[in-house]
Amino acid sequence: MIQKQVIDGGMQEMFESVLKKGKIGNVELKNRFIMPAMGSGHSERDGTVGDEAIGYYVARARGGFGLIITEYTGVDQLGMGARNELKSYSDEYIPGLKRLADAVHAEGAKIFLQLHHGGKWADPNITGQATVSSSAIAFHVRDCIPRELTTQEVYDVIEKFGDAALRAKKAGYDGVELHGGHGYLFPQFMSAYSNRRIDEFGGDIVSRSRFSTCVIENIKQKCGDDFPVIMRMSGDETVDGGMKINETRVMAELLEKAGVDALNVTAGMPATYGDKGYSLASNRTHMGFIAYLAEEIKKSVGIPVITVGRITDPAMADSIVRDGIADFVALGRASLADPEFPNKVLEGRIDEICPCIGCMSRCLTGPGPDGISPGASCALNPFTGYETHMKIEPASKSKTIVVVGGGVAGLEAAWISAARGHKVTLYEKNSRPGGQTYTASIPPHKQGFAHAIKYYQTMCKKHGVDIRLDTEANMDIVVSHAPDAVILCTGATPTGLQVPNDGITVAQAVDMLNGKIIPGKNILVVGGGLVGLETADFLLPQMASVTIVEMLEQAGEGLLTNFALIRALGKSGVNIMTSTKVERFTKDGAVCSTPEGEITLSGYDMVLLATGSKPYNPLEKELLGKVPEIHVIGDAKEARLVKDAVAEGAELAIRI
Ligand SMILES: Cc1cc2nc3c(=O)[nH]c(=O)nc-3n(C[C@H](O)[C@H](O)[C@H](O)COP(=O)(O)O)c2cc1C
Repeated sequence: MIQKQVIDGGMQEMFESVLKKGKIGNVELKNRFIMPAMGSGHSERDGTVGDEAIGYYVARARGGFGLIITEYTGVDQLGMGARNELKSYSDEYIPGLKRLADAVHAEGAKIFLQLHHGGKWADPNITGQATVSSSAIAFHVRDCIPRELTTQEVYDVIEKFGDAALRAKKAGYDGVELHGGHGYLFPQFMSAYSNRRIDEFGGDIVSRSRFSTCVIENIKQKCGDDFPVIMRMSGDETVDGGMKINETRVMAELLEKAGVDALNVTAGMPATYGDKGYSLASNRTHMGFIAYLAEEIKKSVGIPVITVGRITDPAMADSIVRDGIADFVALGRASLADPEFPNKVLEGRIDEICPCIGCMSRCLTGPGPDGISPGASCALNPFTGYETHMKIEPASKSKTIVVVGGGVAGLEAAWISAARGHKVTLYEKNSRPGGQTYTASIPPHKQGFAHAIKYYQTMCKKHGVDIRLDTEANMDIVVSHAPDAVILCTGATPTGLQVPNDGITVAQAVDMLNGKIIPGKNILVVGGGLVGLETADFLLPQMASVTIVEMLEQAGEGLLTNFALIRALGKSGVNIMTSTKVERFTKDGAVCSTPEGEITLSGYDMVLLATGSKPYNPLEKELLGKVPEIHVIGDAKEARLVKDAVAEGAELAIRI
């Protein structure tokens, strides 16, 4: 009781800094929470605004974000990076953009349009023309040497930004943001990494900043001084020869003099997306890791500064504002995970915030081979991006539902079913819910998965799910409820490896992660998928030496975060042997076949198997004919990732 009072009593004052009103130019924002620009992929295939995009943005406006910055919007056909990128290079796009602005305003948020030109990052398959840049420097990503814009063409592009800003103003936007971060056209001019011009747009810092300052001045001329402009900029480009904070700090001063109203400080280049982890950092990167760049820039300017980058915790968001590190916090993927983040902070419902855990398994959506970006969503919140047709609505008839298995598929299905008015009982054989997601939370950087389980558990409690732990449901237990529907989500079990063994200890990696066995010192991990890689990551700080063998040509296929993980393991001396298949275990290792012939690996004291898992679904057959409806979801249907289990739980629960 005492403990509860302490927790509740602290809440009110805890977040007052981030909940305070703020101003960008003369636009007043109701709090310091900003949804930053994110190419959502939810616009129509031709890049116009449709219902899906409106539903997605409105959810975040309704959820309390003071300012919504739209995804990147092309000011010039020559700068387009995706077919369904929003467009602002012709008046014909004004009505669609206006619909979006009006819809966001109706929810009490302000909205800025992000203006963008990709420069050398534009996709020639979409533009139908050679790419352009500040200078003609070979660019391997697009396999091209971009054409250097002539001086006159640079002035033309400046006009195009001004024209696009005027369209934004006519469409009712409160301001615009210039996408000057992540290596696109603005930094192609600003940065000595990519600018070799010898006209007025190249050379010293002032000249390299001229393209940006001219755009700001052009917008102010066309839209008026009171129409706010934010410049997004990478405080550190994180590449050799690129801009560092000592230089971006000076550029910030020049931008301020040119009339910019706020700076949105990010880091990195797109080539580092999900890889080196600056512009878009995975869970291997700590929270608020680039806030120091905003803090440095803030020392040089008097205008508001926005920070971004793995700000996923309300306490951190508040402390950034309170301590003067930045004036506003932009929550990118955290706004995908929970559109109501600000409102939940305001109402003290912190435990109900669906956390962004940096897994990057459903949010990052680069354009596919057809140039279309698939819609961004969230592994833990599958409603994101699909707000118009995925809704939690009251059920027409309240049913009795039994959920067997308390992994994330079961928890998600349970709370949503209960929220719709069904009577839900959930059985979990272990003493805590979470299933394999709990195991996934054990390796370093993965605590977020435990946080996610806590969130689902909170939602179950809130909506009255009767959770029965330490109880393995059998047919009699299930039937005793006389359920209208049964949801089976009993998960998966690890597969073994049926090969001869001359004596080495062989155990399941998940048993070691779950604390059932103590690992050895020299370990051979069989399987280089996610579990194998994370097992090695877990063992390294414990001074173990680890070799991974993977029979496929590549380890860690399937997840973006795996690249960062593989790189980190490589740096720590983990030997990852691909195209290597275990034929038999010896007393101290294994004999493996490789494309070059047989090899013997020796000197190990333990083998940990991470060779995948198979569905575990013992009840379906027994229940057939004894209950009216049976649904099998998650790994019990097919062993896959957390995002698949959660999505299946939600998709079932909204229609059951
Ligand atoms: C799916 C996705 C698309 C993005 N597209 C853009 C974009 O169009 N313009 C931009 O300035 N940043 C873009 N970003 C970067 C975000 O604005 C933000 O800087 C980044 O996600 C880091 O913040 P976070 O850790 O809070 O997610 C994108 C990020 C994501 C996840």
